[in-house]
Amino acid sequence: MTQVPDGQPVSAGPIVSLNQQERAEAGHVETSVLAAEAEEPPSGRRLGRQRTRVRRRLALVCNVKQVAQAGDSDAPTDENEEFDSPETIGALAQLFAQEGYVVTVLEADRSLPRRLTSGNFDLVFNIAEGRGGRCREALVPALCEMLGLHYTGSDPLTLAATLDKDVAKRLLMGVVKTPGWRVVRTLADLQDFDLAFPVIAKPNDEGSSKGIHDDCKCADLPALESLCRRLLDDYGRPVLVEAFVRGPEVTVGVVGNRQPEVVGLMHVVPTQGEPGDFIYSLQAKRDFAHRVRYAIPPELPQDMCQRIEAAALAAFRLLDCRDVARIDFRVGPDGEPYFIEANPLPGLSPATGDIVIMARAMGWTWEALITRILREAEFRQGVLRPMLVPRGEPKRKKARALAVLTLTDDPAIAVLR
Ligand SMILES: Nc1ncnc2c1ncn2[C@@H]1O[C@H](COP(=O)(O)OP(=O)(O)OP(=O)(O)O)[C@@H](O)[C@H]1O
Ligand SMILES: [Mg+2]
Repeated sequence: MTQVPDGQPVSAGPIVSLNQQERAEAGHVETSVLAAEAEEPPSGRRLGRQRTRVRRRLALVCNVKQVAQAGDSDAPTDENEEFDSPETIGALAQLFAQEGYVVTVLEADRSLPRRLTSGNFDLVFNIAEGRGGRCREALVPALCEMLGLHYTGSDPLTLAATLDKDVAKRLLMGVVKTPGWRVVRTLADLQDFDLAFPVIAKPNDEGSSKGIHDDCKCADLPALESLCRRLLDDYGRPVLVEAFVRGPEVTVGVVGNRQPEVVGLMHVVPTQGEPGDFIYSLQAKRDFAHRVRYAIPPELPQDMCQRIEAAALAAFRLLDCRDVARIDFRVGPDGEPYFIEANPLPGLSPATGDIVIMARAMGWTWEALITRILREAEFRQGVLRPMLVPRGEPKRKKARALAVLTLTDDPAIAVLR
């Protein structure tokens, strides 16, 4: 629950008035009423019915990026790369409070089932990357389904299938072009390796460029063997070896459901080195200000952009993505887009999220992008919006100051551990 420093809940948002039919349509609403009181209609207008004040509750479920302490472990330095920063989580929490929700930030750990069960939430906004194997992104949605909770974004099947790049490629194969590939589970799998070089080797089920460094392009078998050995040792996950596609890199943001809409196309242009050798690696992402520039719209022929857009929408649909996704392509020597991977949980950092950067360049604010995702999820599941304030109802209250946020001891937002 959003709290102020004295520990009192914030009346963060507007108050919803529901008539009987709306309550019946919402189904779950009765259990979600936090504070309900009858009141007279404002400004002397008699509406001929009692009005109920409802505060809607939203759980922002995430994995907070921990700052690694020196000597903490032997884990790779990108161990926490997928997780979200306190700044991103704080900004989201504040926006949802302004949108009218009573917000609770929950870490997606073993306490989550208990917290979600007792929280009486109307909606879960899921940005949790999860911990564990290739199904880790599916855990929170699966839990929400078990508990009958509405949640944002794709379902467990899509999140698991897209995190496993081999599975995603198999699902799209034949409809959307994707580079040839092999999965290496042990070094013995390289004995009959038959893809043409150069290739790229990367962990099969990691995100945020974990394990993808500037040296992941291999020109021959010995280089590939040594890289696979390192990746298998470091990540303990299968390695995806793919034909290296030298053409331009374009990532596409998509929002929506039945008629998904392209937010924008972002052409990632390297500012150093030979463009054909470019890898949007961990190092390039961390140092994006110096190593790349973003061309939005892409500096590419219009018909090529249209093909990329069509491929992104096809991938979004075929993978059954919901509400939002970012889909990565490289353009092949034939001028066609080659699917690299889909991110149905794209980074939403106001500062560094690729989909955020592209949305801004296309004229969206960060707030517009996030509320669009929220609305898509609310609409898809029939979650009544806190903004449904009838005419005459007092204007939305402003959220109390939530800006200063450390997720350890600042009481501005409740972080349940
Ligand atoms: N087959 C390929 N050919 C050329 N470059 C590739 C290929 N596969 C990956 N890359 C490069 O490596 C980068 C990271 O790969 P990929 O998108 O698969 O990893 P990720 O960790 O899931 O990324 P994200 O940060 O988008 O989640 C790509 O953006 C691209 O620059
Ligand atoms: Mg990617």
